[in-house]
Amino acid sequence: MPSDANAIPTSVWPASAERVEGQLLLGGVGVEELRRRFGTPLLVLDEGEFRSRAERIRSAFEVAAAAAGTGVHVYYAGKAFLSVAAARWAIDAGLRVDVASGGELAIALAAGVDPASIGLHGNNKSLAEIDRAVGVGVGAIIIDSLAEIDRVADAAARYEREQPVRLRINSGVHASTHEYLATASEDQKFGVPIAQAQEAVAAIRALPRLRFLGLHSHLGSQIFGADGFAEAARRLLGLHAELLRGGSVPELNLGGGYGVAYTVADDPEPIEQLAAEIVGGVAAVCAELGIQLPVLAFEPGRWIAGPAGVTLYELGTLKDVPVGSSSRRYLSVDGGMSDNIRPALYGADYSVRMANRVSAAPPVLVRVVGKHCESGDIVVRDDYLPGDTVPGDLLAVPVTGAYCSVLASNYNALPRPAVVAVRDGNARILVRRETEADLLVRDLDAATATAPTAPSEGPSA
Ligand code: LLP
Repeated sequence: MPSDANAIPTSVWPASAERVEGQLLLGGVGVEELRRRFGTPLLVLDEGEFRSRAERIRSAFEVAAAAAGTGVHVYYAGKAFLSVAAARWAIDAGLRVDVASGGELAIALAAGVDPASIGLHGNNKSLAEIDRAVGVGVGAIIIDSLAEIDRVADAAARYEREQPVRLRINSGVHASTHEYLATASEDQKFGVPIAQAQEAVAAIRALPRLRFLGLHSHLGSQIFGADGFAEAARRLLGLHAELLRGGSVPELNLGGGYGVAYTVADDPEPIEQLAAEIVGGVAAVCAELGIQLPVLAFEPGRWIAGPAGVTLYELGTLKDVPVGSSSRRYLSVDGGMSDNIRPALYGADYSVRMANRVSAAPPVLVRVVGKHCESGDIVVRDDYLPGDTVPGDLLAVPVTGAYCSVLASNYNALPRPAVVAVRDGNARILVRRETEADLLVRDLDAATATAPTAPSEGPSA
């Protein structure tokens, strides 16, 4: 039970979040204005928070790398949240951009990101995706299988280019996170098993159209602490040292995965400390192996975008459901698993606050649920809200900037919410809300289908 069910603790709310006469403001914009202009559910991205986190993590890794005597490339992992504006914010902050599909590549290119600063990932890149990436001149393709080596080389030959590539290794390190978020335990689909890496690098080096940049490893996501990264680095560097005997290996990419606080129960260490520990660990292993520290690369996604996002919902229905001798208060909102699948998919925990006002009513334990036809359609499993929270109140769920909008669906034919950026008292639509016309326009039997309405303000935005 919180001492104050209206509090907006800085560990999970954007720095700009404040209450003015009870109302929550994000980026200087009141939630009532956001509801009126854009409707709910609404993903509100605090532009200043995104930009400052992007700069902070770049600087953290740069400082750590400089202290160890090497350079670093920090990529924004666009899969966490990507729009044209977000890609530009990342670039403005001095980051490169990682994409994981042709669609993400298209968004990055539409944002004007220099292809040379883009990395393309994917465990099953189509020939068309590879062709486009090579054709536009992406700076790195992260090869994920032996089969992909020739596919990339063929595309490079077609364009008469030399294509820089990294080789993604499945290090076998199991980072402690949800099973679906761990991407480097042995039994999964990503990367080339460490035992096949020598063969893969030999094949890459034998192809004059490919330039080998180095090894890549991504352990998983929402990882706390440096231990998993240090162990993966140790395993990769052993291989890296062997590969140095056959040619140059200028870089080492350790992926992303840095955890954020979703609720006040999470306590991630400051990114500067984590960066120093990870880079220090790599430097120590290089010293042991007697090899030069390579240029390092990192790919944070969630750490940048997650805490910049707050989702606003309108409370529609309140039910006190008897559970044994007690009861549970279910608060149903106008979105749910279609705009945030993470609780259903990973058992992720979130917190909630009433956003349009504060109340001194004694807090009540609530479960915030969506409007979908699934009992697993939970937004916030357990939190406390003032006991007089009623239909029509606005509920705000922080830390929804990463892996929510990008994982959104049209389940139950719900139009996907708009994404709005707030900054310095201004709000603007980044991605407009879907309309029913959008839902029907792809259904070619729908006689009534009309063209999507133009982006506009107003609750249909
Ligand atoms: N690099 C690679 C190769 C990745 O696969 C990922 C994430 C990242 C970087 C960025 O990881 P981050 O810093 O954001 O943790 N949908 C899940 C997360 C999936 C992460 C997939 N790969 C979730 O909602 O938690």
